[in-house]
Amino acid sequence: MPITTTVITGATSGIGRETAMALARKDHALYLLVRDTERGEALKRDITSGTKNKNIYVVQCDLADLESVRNAAGILKRSLLSINILINNAGGIFAGREESKDGFEMTFAVNHLGHFLLVQCLLPLLEKGQARIINVSSEAHRMAKPNFNDLQWIKRPYSAWKAYGTAKLFNIYFTRSLAIKYGKKGINAFALHPGLVNTGFGTKLSGFSKLLMALARPFMISAENGAQTTIYLALATRIDAKSGKYFKSRQPADSSVAATNELGRDRLWDLSMELIEPFLN
Ligand SMILES: NC(=O)c1ccc[n+]([C@@H]2O[C@H](COP(=O)([O-])OP(=O)(O)OC[C@H]3O[C@@H](n4cnc5c(N)ncnc54)[C@H](OP(=O)(O)O)[C@@H]3O)[C@@H](O)[C@H]2O)c1
Repeated sequence: MPITTTVITGATSGIGRETAMALARKDHALYLLVRDTERGEALKRDITSGTKNKNIYVVQCDLADLESVRNAAGILKRSLLSINILINNAGGIFAGREESKDGFEMTFAVNHLGHFLLVQCLLPLLEKGQARIINVSSEAHRMAKPNFNDLQWIKRPYSAWKAYGTAKLFNIYFTRSLAIKYGKKGINAFALHPGLVNTGFGTKLSGFSKLLMALARPFMISAENGAQTTIYLALATRIDAKSGKYFKSRQPADSSVAATNELGRDRLWDLSMELIEPFLN
């Protein structure tokens, strides 16, 4: 049986780590895209000793640095002929407004734009692998306040949850766009909400949000449980017809009405293409 080649971001912690472990147990060749290679190598050792899978590779990739994303894609293009699964899992929420290396608002940069560039750079490999692209979104997309005249949160007061919700809405827009644009080329895309999961997520929040997270923590599910919908989407057979959809608890689910807005979806695509253009090739 041919080996399944899977690329995953954000596997050094939480949901991504459990996803990587589960797919390593299924003998996938795993490419771990990590911003911190020491953490990546430690994860590789854990996966190899826990699963006996030796096909684990660490690639440096900071999603808040588009040059680093392009370099990571270059390494994959030189190492691989095809990719079967790409899991865009890395993400986070930021208490105050921060900027990425390229000057983009950090929530937008890490949760959306870095992954957008990664996919664009990897398209030839994804097409050859008839790939599934899995985007880890969130129910927080319902809090989105997209303003295409101020995606960088310069003209309005920054709100951590609104910026995060908007980035997670963009994960759903992106998923639908990928399904529409590349479905005929054999690439399918899925978005998902993992549940309310006890991970590193939100640990750097401050003030009232920090208190809320602390109060919610005892009721959160484990990272292992939180990884189940991602793992399902990676392993399930016959789900191509559901490409473009948003999943919860391993089932297609309704997203917000805003997430079905075609104008917003197309605007995000065009704008993202403009922003990453200097980093293509
Ligand atoms: N936890 C929840 O309740 C929940 C709910 C809905 C959606 N989600 C989504 O689930 C995904 C996984 O989050 P998690 O809960 O597992 O959180 P987590 O434990 O904080 O893991 C986040 C992962 O993203 C990586 N990451 C962060 N910034 C990065 C960057 N600039 N470049 C590359 N990698 C970066 C982190 O790497 P380091 O180890 O280097 O920090 C880590 O591996 C995220 O997209 C999150 O938005 C989580």
